[in-house]
Amino acid sequence: PRILVLISGNGSNLQALIDRSADGIIPGQIVSVVSSSAKAYGLERAAEAKIPSRVHALKEYYTGVPKEDVSGRKAARAQFNRDLVSLIINEVKPDLIVCAGWMLILSEDFLEPLENASIPIINLHPSLPGAFEGINAIERSYEAGQNGTVAKGGCMIHKVIKEVDRGQPLVVREIDVVKGETLESWEQRIHALEHQAIVDGTVKALKELVRVD
Ligand code: GRF
Repeated sequence: PRILVLISGNGSNLQALIDRSADGIIPGQIVSVVSSSAKAYGLERAAEAKIPSRVHALKEYYTGVPKEDVSGRKAARAQFNRDLVSLIINEVKPDLIVCAGWMLILSEDFLEPLENASIPIINLHPSLPGAFEGINAIERSYEAGQNGTVAKGGCMIHKVIKEVDRGQPLVVREIDVVKGETLESWEQRIHALEHQAIVDGTVKALKELVRVD
């Protein structure tokens, strides 16, 4: 099966996917990497692994459209989504899309055509189901752990639906709060968990979500 990986940054989770598909743990091939940023180190990782990659940057679509021009930016965002959907459906033709640190919300006009094309999308999110959706989840869960609001943290792989970070979890990995721990240590423990969860989640998605014709 053909896997497309969407990234925006360092790509340490992409690296885990590359390594595990190379050694066969993931029964699929990463056929393309799309980054929302030209500066993403993950693009280097794709190049190293000889995986075709491309940049699909919202910034390019916003060129010449001032922030105040709300409808202009809405139109530009819609075009960004249309072009990305077209690239995916007509060129990449993946069986599964894995969001590994993709930092843009995937709205209905992106999700619907892919749903109609029967291409499932899964996402890695660094918090437990139902907690800390959206950005800065690691920092927010760290604060909550240190101030006693939560006793656990972790990450999950979930099916992408229009409600941000609220799709059915495929894999959940937990860690216990350690009082007095630094944010760096908390972050490091969560990232270590993610690199396992994203592999398990991709294997599970290939088994359960991808139609094998
Ligand atoms: C991870 O923490 C992921 O959960 C979040 O962004 C980070 C991506 O890290 N969405 P990397 O680019 O895979 O190293």
